[in-house]
Amino acid sequence: MRPIGIFDSGIGGLTVARAIARRLPHEQLIYFGDTAHLPYGDKSADAIRYYALKIVKYLLEQQCKMIVIACNSASTAAYGVLLEFFKEQALFVNVVDPLVEAAAAEPFGKLGLIATKATVNSGVYEQQLYRLRPDLPLHTLATPLLAPMIEEGFVEGKISTAILENYLNDPRLQGIDGLLLACTHYPLIRPQIEAFYQGRVKVLDSTDVVARVVEKQLIQHNLLAAQLSAPHRFYVSDYTPSFEAATRLFYGESVQLDYLPIW
Ligand code: DGL
Repeated sequence: MRPIGIFDSGIGGLTVARAIARRLPHEQLIYFGDTAHLPYGDKSADAIRYYALKIVKYLLEQQCKMIVIACNSASTAAYGVLLEFFKEQALFVNVVDPLVEAAAAEPFGKLGLIATKATVNSGVYEQQLYRLRPDLPLHTLATPLLAPMIEEGFVEGKISTAILENYLNDPRLQGIDGLLLACTHYPLIRPQIEAFYQGRVKVLDSTDVVARVVEKQLIQHNLLAAQLSAPHRFYVSDYTPSFEAATRLFYGESVQLDYLPIW
């Protein structure tokens, strides 16, 4: 009956949290959006590791049985160190491995990936994909304006379309037949990305694939909750109207949103 802890720099991880809540309605979620440090994608790996350690320490104090790192920048920079420090205390799920596995199972010939600078510079996706599909070239592009744009609520309209088209027209992404959205903010603009490609490119994100892995791991460890024990809780390290709007939109009435000054 213990909760699942989920964190991201902001509203992006809510896309993963929503997929988990839909798949596993009996699980209580405690979500932490580190809005005081957003965007993570422009920070150094050391800074992201420091934030992640502190957030996870807090979530473990709340008795979480599992931690979902619902952020690619944190998954690529901090998954190893989190396991090193805390693997005895909870199960850990990152958002990279499930997406790589899903991509490797598709008959793609040329795969593209868009993500933050931190994720692209880490090279983790190339490494992980190479282990499963050495034949499949991965063409990565850092798209650093997208996460802040989404956080500010620009998901439709002239500004977001211009920024998105500029990125997707980049020569590095030409001729792809699959595209990985390797940032948990990007499912919020997935319809715009799909509209740009008009069916020519299959788009994959880490929402449902991560929810499936969460379920599998809980079953394997006999940790599934039988019923919802308490309402979900949502915390932010700095108040932002977009976080509040997105949380209420995703989870309806019963949302408790609190400011948590852990820094
Ligand atoms: N949602 C995060 C990710 O998946 C990061 C966005 C950001 O803060 O840069 O990488």
